[in-house]
Amino acid sequence: MDFLLTDQQMMLKKITREFAEEYIAPVAEESDENQELDPTVMEKMKEMNYFGTCISEEYGGAGLHDDTLSFCIITEEIGRIDTSWSITTGVHCSVCAYPIYKFGTEEQKQQFLIDLAKGNKIGAFCLTEANAGSDAAGVQLSAVKDGDEWILNGSKIFATNGGIAKTLLVVAKTGEKETRKELTIFIVDTETPGYSVGVKEDKLGARASNTSELVFQDVRVPQENILGKIGDGFKLTMQILDFGRISIAAQCVGLGQAALEASVKYANERVQFGRPIGRFQGIQWMISNMACAVESARLLTYKAAYLCDKGMDYGLTSAMAKLVASEAAMQAAHDACQIHGGYGLMKAYPVERYFRDAKMTEIYEGTSEIQRLVIAHQLLRKGFK
Ligand code: CAA
Repeated sequence: MDFLLTDQQMMLKKITREFAEEYIAPVAEESDENQELDPTVMEKMKEMNYFGTCISEEYGGAGLHDDTLSFCIITEEIGRIDTSWSITTGVHCSVCAYPIYKFGTEEQKQQFLIDLAKGNKIGAFCLTEANAGSDAAGVQLSAVKDGDEWILNGSKIFATNGGIAKTLLVVAKTGEKETRKELTIFIVDTETPGYSVGVKEDKLGARASNTSELVFQDVRVPQENILGKIGDGFKLTMQILDFGRISIAAQCVGLGQAALEASVKYANERVQFGRPIGRFQGIQWMISNMACAVESARLLTYKAAYLCDKGMDYGLTSAMAKLVASEAAMQAAHDACQIHGGYGLMKAYPVERYFRDAKMTEIYEGTSEIQRLVIAHQLLRKGFK
């Protein structure tokens, strides 16, 4: 077992850290306040090929399609500076571009993937509805066949990147299979007539990332835009989320790391009772707990990435990583605010933003309770290997 990153991965980490500190950090607070991603950063991100991380070079990507650990490193470093950006690129890459790369036809790759990989178009994965989310099978948005086309009707809510996306993966109901709904995933171009963006959400955290309601009224999608096979949508969704969870876990590791670093810095600088507060055991214990939680989360996240790259079953580990990493980020952000005292509640210090962002991660792309369900299902059905 080798715990060391390769020279190439170390270099990637360094370059991404420098990029995030130079371009994202100066505008992170303003973007959080305005609830908008900075357009200059968006252009820089494209130049760095961060929208094509998981895609091979032949489709315009960075060529890290079989190096999920490198995807984690990039997502972690971006997440260390700004969760809004790590969820934007993370969702785009992991649950939109990568599924088209992995499950799409050559025609779909030519038509959709190249623009996604280059960042010319932003992608979103659209599952959640008013009555579906945790219950992934509860989707009601319908797709009805009409000749060589399918007509989509219904709406999605809480779609990450929804309002800025030009390419969507939409989970739709295409029939009933005995007692179960038959779901199918469609690739939808947002220029298609009948599609519109509804309410843009005003959120607690990751505020600069776009989260929107999406409305489909008689949206006609050609048959060739089906991802995978008709009726395979549920299992495909589960597989897509297995990979997406690695991305969320990585962003949480970055966020937890940021909270830890801010706490160490503050504990060394802040003087009370005649000495830096880092000399007090109460503060030291919080810092130790944070460091252990973040490092444990990092190891689990990297293990999920490793299993994925080895072509092994990684669904159990990615759910564990998402659960442990989001709870580590929340704990670290909570304790960081506590260590900062009154300043931890003020917008002048980034830990206030970390706290709000961390809460998001325990909920989006599957709540902690859902991760526990997924973990238990796997253990109870498959046992131990
Ligand atoms: N890979 C492949 N197949 C899988 C699978 C996986 N990971 N997980 C389940 N399956 C298969 C099962 O083998 C089973 O197959 P058979 O019918 O042939 O036996 C079938 O799928 C059904 O599996 P389950 O019985 O486990 O299904 P369930 O209904 O009990 O699943 C659940 C329950 C696990 C909670 C599932 O609904 C789930 O994962 N829900 C969470 C969804 C989620 O994370 N939502 C968050 C919103 S997405 C989001 O936030 C996007 C965004 O914008 C960021």
